[in-house]
Amino acid sequence: MDAVADGVLKVSGGAGLTGSLTVSGSKNASLPVMAAALLTRSRVRLHNVPQVADTALMAEILTALGVVVEREGGLICLAAESVSGSVPEHLGRRMRASIVLLGAVLTRTGEARLPKPGGDQIGTRRVEQHIRGLRAMGANIQESDSEITARAPLGLHGARVIFDLPTVTGTENIMLAAALAEGRTEIFNAAREPHVQDLALFLNAMGAQVRGAGTDEIVIDGVAEMHGCEHRVIPDYLEAGTYALAVAAAGGDLVLLDAPVRDLTQLLSKLDEAGVTVESDSSRIRIQHRRTSPLLPVDMSTFVHPGFPTDLQAPYLALMTQAAGACVISEYLFENRFQHVPELVRMGAAISVSGRDAYVRGPSSLVGCEVDAPDIRSGAALIIAALCARGETVIHRAWHVDRGYEDMAGKLAGLGAVIARGPETRPLPGLEGAFTYE
Ligand code: EPU
Repeated sequence: MDAVADGVLKVSGGAGLTGSLTVSGSKNASLPVMAAALLTRSRVRLHNVPQVADTALMAEILTALGVVVEREGGLICLAAESVSGSVPEHLGRRMRASIVLLGAVLTRTGEARLPKPGGDQIGTRRVEQHIRGLRAMGANIQESDSEITARAPLGLHGARVIFDLPTVTGTENIMLAAALAEGRTEIFNAAREPHVQDLALFLNAMGAQVRGAGTDEIVIDGVAEMHGCEHRVIPDYLEAGTYALAVAAAGGDLVLLDAPVRDLTQLLSKLDEAGVTVESDSSRIRIQHRRTSPLLPVDMSTFVHPGFPTDLQAPYLALMTQAAGACVISEYLFENRFQHVPELVRMGAAISVSGRDAYVRGPSSLVGCEVDAPDIRSGAALIIAALCARGETVIHRAWHVDRGYEDMAGKLAGLGAVIARGPETRPLPGLEGAFTYE
């Protein structure tokens, strides 16, 4: 996928989801791993990179930096023989995760210039932890309202980086910067997400010395040089979780293949509590739910890994509109991640929000209507709600979904959903402006 389509998704509810699906590679693992290719002049080969708009954009940014990028389906080959330090504003600004280039570009070129990520729909999303960490490693960093400029002409050195909170891309940035730094870097209060662990595996395959990923203390001993390698990106637990929630909500019988079962422990236990039949072995999950028996409401609070992932909060909330009774869903990580709520209410859901808590009372008979997808995960939540609704739902700004889910409409249609793309017929003022930061 090269471009983000300015179109709608039309979903007619009522059909269950039946069949099997192979989980795609993780978007959030692919982005830092692609950035890591900047740390060697040799070629790296990445398998299982999902064909989503965000990985396409990362490839475009790397190409603009001088990296030779070849893509064939899920295989991406990157060769960073010569690299510029300046991320073009018009590209970097379109994806908040481009901040993960800071550590790698600075290491490779001694100077990095990036558009500054701002706030977005789901929260203010500051990056001061990234900057503090890199400063501790010797970087000279200037910030303006629109740009971050970092310099380390003599290279970076190891440091103790103590995060106030376990930021995911912040942890990844410091790991990327530390791999070739002089001496030892210790990250305290590190993020433990599966994609942080995958980045460590990839860096080690390139010759780095990273230990402790998956715990809150990561130790990186800088090496003098790194080399090319081949790596298979982990399957996406967020995509797998989204489909598990979709079948629980719409009803049906779904087998997820190449599923990251361990990373979904929290979600699978919530589904079980709600009355959904869940069976799993090491890499396969079967989810069954007949809509003849009502779902039970189950409270949930998001938390950093291994807690319930914030990225599954919106799809989970959509599911809970179908449970018989009341529950509270709390968003611990982001201060404004209930953008899907007004859209779900428009479809007939009974939800009220107070601060970081959403109170859901179900079951609601949802009715199809026109809704707007405010971000990737809210878009997925609206699709799930639409699968349960009577009549047709038209989801505007559906390009959000394409940023994080590989061919979601095609995959759902393959499972029996009635879903199709259509042209945007409604003027959406500020569409370009909205296509920034996530
Ligand atoms: N934060 C700070 N200061 C910082 C960094 C973070 O205050 O310097 C705060 C943020 O404002 C937020 C919290 O810490 O309230 C967590 O932010 P984090 O830095 O962990 O998030 P991120 O690295 O920007 C990644 C994912 C998000 C996912 C979050 C939380 C990628 C590319 N993005 O973002 O994924 O929601 O971690 O797990 O890995 C998505 O895929 O749809 C998505 C938004």
